[in-house]
Amino acid sequence: MKDRVGWRAAGPSPEASCWTGVRRLCLKGVFKRSRLYVSMAAVSFLIFLVLSALYLPDQAATERPLPEVTLLIWTHPFGEYRALPDCLELYQVSGCALTDDPQAYPQADAVIIHHREIAIGEADLPSEPRPGAQKWIWMNYESPTHTPGLWFVEGVFNLTMSYRTDSDIFLPYGYLVPRGRKETVRHGAGFTHALSNSSRPRKRFVAWVISNWSASHARVGFYHQLRRFIPVHVFGAAGRPLQRGEGSVARLLRRYMFYLALENSQHTDYITEKLWNAVQAGAVPVVLGPSRKNYERFLPAEAFIHVNDFPSVRELARYLVKLRGDPLQMRRHLDWRRSYSLHQPRFWGEHYCMACRAVRRSTGRSQTVTDLTRWFHS
Ligand SMILES: *[C@@H]1O[C@H](CO)[C@@H](O)[C@H](O)[C@H]1NC(C)=O
Ligand SMILES: *[C@@H]1O[C@H](CO)[C@@H](O)[C@H](O)[C@H]1NC(C)=O
Ligand SMILES: *[C@@H]1O[C@H](CO)[C@@H](O)[C@H](O)[C@H]1NC(C)=O
Repeated sequence: MKDRVGWRAAGPSPEASCWTGVRRLCLKGVFKRSRLYVSMAAVSFLIFLVLSALYLPDQAATERPLPEVTLLIWTHPFGEYRALPDCLELYQVSGCALTDDPQAYPQADAVIIHHREIAIGEADLPSEPRPGAQKWIWMNYESPTHTPGLWFVEGVFNLTMSYRTDSDIFLPYGYLVPRGRKETVRHGAGFTHALSNSSRPRKRFVAWVISNWSASHARVGFYHQLRRFIPVHVFGAAGRPLQRGEGSVARLLRRYMFYLALENSQHTDYITEKLWNAVQAGAVPVVLGPSRKNYERFLPAEAFIHVNDFPSVRELARYLVKLRGDPLQMRRHLDWRRSYSLHQPRFWGEHYCMACRAVRRSTGRSQTVTDLTRWFHS
């Protein structure tokens, strides 16, 4: 997953099957040509042989069955128990036995360890020495600012799993899937939603949902400036009450034109459900987080408004007011939606299944994570 370029690449790994599909097409092309130009038959046959030689070993490699693996979930993140998923049924990931029973440690092929509980001393790392080929996976979805104690787990992990595109196991908070691609099954049936271009005009203007109000966060300073110029409806602990339950934020945002998707801290690839809730609801996100370029790894340039697009907060406010009165220009920020579906991975079941799939694929390979702290802060 390293060195990915372009936002489209921000979804998890493309399958090898596309590649073999292309090769099959190539072969078909070869047959046609040999029929049309009989004199070229010999040449075509040669090409066919060459392509077959390329094609067959590859196919044999992809069809070699991967071993079954046992993945041990060391702690339930944040101490919240959740039933473990059926990876085959939900994500078409086979060969995975998930368990949260520590007794399984000696047999586990991999242990997935959520950073928080280790860092704050709620749980210990598994005991050393670890069984032979066992892999320890570091899993964390908080930003570096809210990830204490990294030094403590330096040099013990084999794989990383996080929202960062350059993680060994990359699963972001959300990602777009071009529509028309046969994707829904692999990305979890029922968790992928086609985006509408929300043609119904919205009466309400700007919303912000904030649960952790802290004066030390850049987002609070931004809000104080913005509300000098335009009204902002604030929801959550620091504002109007918010309905509890899944999907409540997205439901609320469906009535708004804009949503302030302001991250609690600004770091590489740290783009959370705040953005994706707005995208799901068809409210244009106004983002404060990593750079515009970084956001563009995840979604089209016109799909969001970046606070740094403007020389001042006043100019940003002016632009939002202008869009409110100009449906044609507003459409520019929404039209892209027709071509995409949105997938928001389920915490944490989907994470376990994707981790398990990665462990199966990396069987027999030794890996260690070096410089975890420096990498995660970079
Ligand atoms: C949404 O799409 C339809 C056609 O698919 C178009 O007629 C309509 O103008 C679009 N609305 C917006 C707000 O982009
Ligand atoms: C709220 O923000 C403060 C300041 O950054 C941080 O120390 C604290 O951990 C945050 N609380 C939660 C629940 O995220
Ligand atoms: C996992 O990482 C540890 C610590 O760096 C290392 O000793 C071990 O050999 C690694 N195991 C595998 C299977 O990569």
